[in-house]
Parts: sequence; structure tokens; C-alpha cells
Amino acid sequence: MNNILGYQNENVVVTGAASGMGAGCVQRLLEVGANVYALDINDVDAPVSKSIKVNIMDKESITAAVAELPGEIFSLFNCAGVPCPPAPTYNTMMINFVGMRELTRQLLPRMKKNSSIASVSSTAGMAWRSNRGNVDTFLANDSFESAAAWLQTEEGSAISADAYAFSKQSMIVYMFNNAAELARRHIRINTICPSPTESAFTEQMAEIGLGRDITDFFTPPNGLYATGSDMGDALVAINSNLFRFVSGCLIPVDWGYTAEITAGQRDNLLNISL
Ligand SMILES: NC(=O)c1ccc[n+]([C@@H]2O[C@H](COP(=O)([O-])OP(=O)(O)OC[C@H]3O[C@@H](n4cnc5c(N)ncnc54)[C@H](O)[C@@H]3O)[C@@H](O)[C@H]2O)c1
Repeated sequence: MNNILGYQNENVVVTGAASGMGAGCVQRLLEVGANVYALDINDVDAPVSKSIKVNIMDKESITAAVAELPGEIFSLFNCAGVPCPPAPTYNTMMINFVGMRELTRQLLPRMKKNSSIASVSSTAGMAWRSNRGNVDTFLANDSFESAAAWLQTEEGSAISADAYAFSKQSMIVYMFNNAAELARRHIRINTICPSPTESAFTEQMAEIGLGRDITDFFTPPNGLYATGSDMGDALVAINSNLFRFVSGCLIPVDWGYTAEITAGQRDNLLNISL
């Protein structure tokens, strides 16, 4: 098999592997010969090397999962995430950001030279510039415990107005803050911002009245909804050797939605920017 992507016989870790984008990653990674370690709170059906149950908002659960992972890792795919609403503010921040950061940190010592990390943010995360002060205040809580504690303060509770966006903005700023140090260690880190993608995530939103009437505002110019495989393939490409000189990038995977906004051809409802 041609190994141009570099995954053959390499250990890769995928969170949110049971469904949607994570499942899309898993499917493609198996096809290109990776040893897939699949992490999720739900069962993973795919024939992976190892499926590990984890609740990513629980530090003990993360540490237990890491103990089951191999000593050397080529790629990490941070796909686990929940919409808010319906998920509560605290859970959303813990799953979408604090747990993701903790898992990434625990795995960094195992990342090989020229390894890669790709995380899934969101279009909503691209409003990070206008919320930078608040995100920096939160990120100053550098440990799992201090971040969890801050979220339960009055200041932390105030983010509930848009906790989902805050979690995804935190992910983007975290990447910017760490890309240089990781480059010195020959580890790449990138973050994608997907346009609306059909998955269990959008089904949960639809169930509480946030269906296509809302998500249609954020679809690409051609009106298409992505699939988990569309996003999974983009993530697999970005973490592959073909992207070996790309790091610290916020990458919209939205078939021109961000371009249309940037060109001033469409209302910028979320105040996003590159
Ligand atoms: N679907 C969209 O329109 C959309 C758009 C932009 C960004 N995103 C982001 O994409 C990522 C993937 O979402 P998706 O669309 O594939 O949805 P999905 O619901 O199909 O997949 C999310 C996965 O995360 C897992 N998960 C949830 N809570 C967990 C926990 N506590 N511990 C471990 N695993 C947990 C779920 O079991 C599920 O398998 C998420 O981070 C989401 O925020 C989604």
C-alpha cells in the first residue's frame, strides 16, 4: 500500500470516535493502515486496534484511558464534543475544551517527532478575536482543576450565554498559544472550523428546536451540509505527512462560507474572522 499519508502501522488516537466526524476519521484511518485507538463515552463499532471508554470531562477517566494507550503516538484527533444547548454550560466547557486540553497534555510526552494534533472547533469559535479578553482570563486557569473551579465562579457562569462558542474559541486560542512551543518539539497542531455537519450533534440540536431553520444560516454558499466523512477526511489529510509544514492554523472546512463572509458578501452573524 502507498504510504504517502504516513499512517501505515502508526498509532493514532481519535476522540469522539463512535459517531460523526470522529467515526469518519476512524474509517479513513483504518483504510490507510493506521493502528486506531478509539476513545468515546459510547461504544465504537469499527474494527479498531483498541476501543476505550472515556468520559472526557472526568480527569480520572482521561488518565485511565491514557494508561491503555501505546507509548508512541503519531497523530491525535480531538473530535469529541457536545452542543450547548442542550448540554449544560459546565459540561460543554469540560468536554469541548478542558478535557480535550487535559488529554492532549497527557499525550504530548508520547507524541513522536513529526507527529500531529488536529482538533475540531467550529464556525462559532472563529469569533475568538472579539472575545479574546474573556478567553485569556479563562485560559489563565492552566490546570484541569483550576479551569473546572473557575467555571463554577460567578465570572465563569457568565459565559453561559454562549458557552459552546466560548469552548470552541478557547480551543483556537489554546492552539495559537502552543503552536510555537510544539514546533520546537517537532509536533504540529491545527484546528478545523467545520460548517454544519449532519451527525448526532445536529440531531440533538434539532430536537430542541435548533434545526435547519437555524443551521441554514451557516451553510456554505452552495447550501450543502457536510457529512462526518467530509470532516473526517479533512482531519486525516491535515494530520498526514502531506501537511508536514502546516501548523498553528485555524482551517475553515466550510466550502467557502468563511470566504463569503470575509469578502463582505454575506452577513457576519457570528462576528467571525480568520
Ligand atoms: N455537527 C456540526 O454541525 C458541527 C459543526 C461544527 C463543529 N462541530 C464539532 O464537531 C465535533 C464532532 O461532532 P459531530 O458532529 O461528529 O457530533 P457527534 O455527536 O456525532 O460526535 C461527537 C462524539 O463525541 C462523543 N462524546 C460526547 N461527550 C463525550 C464525553 N463526555 N466523553 C467522550 N466522548 C464524548 C459522542 O459520544 C460522539 O461520539 C464536536 O466537537 C462538535 O462540537 C460539529
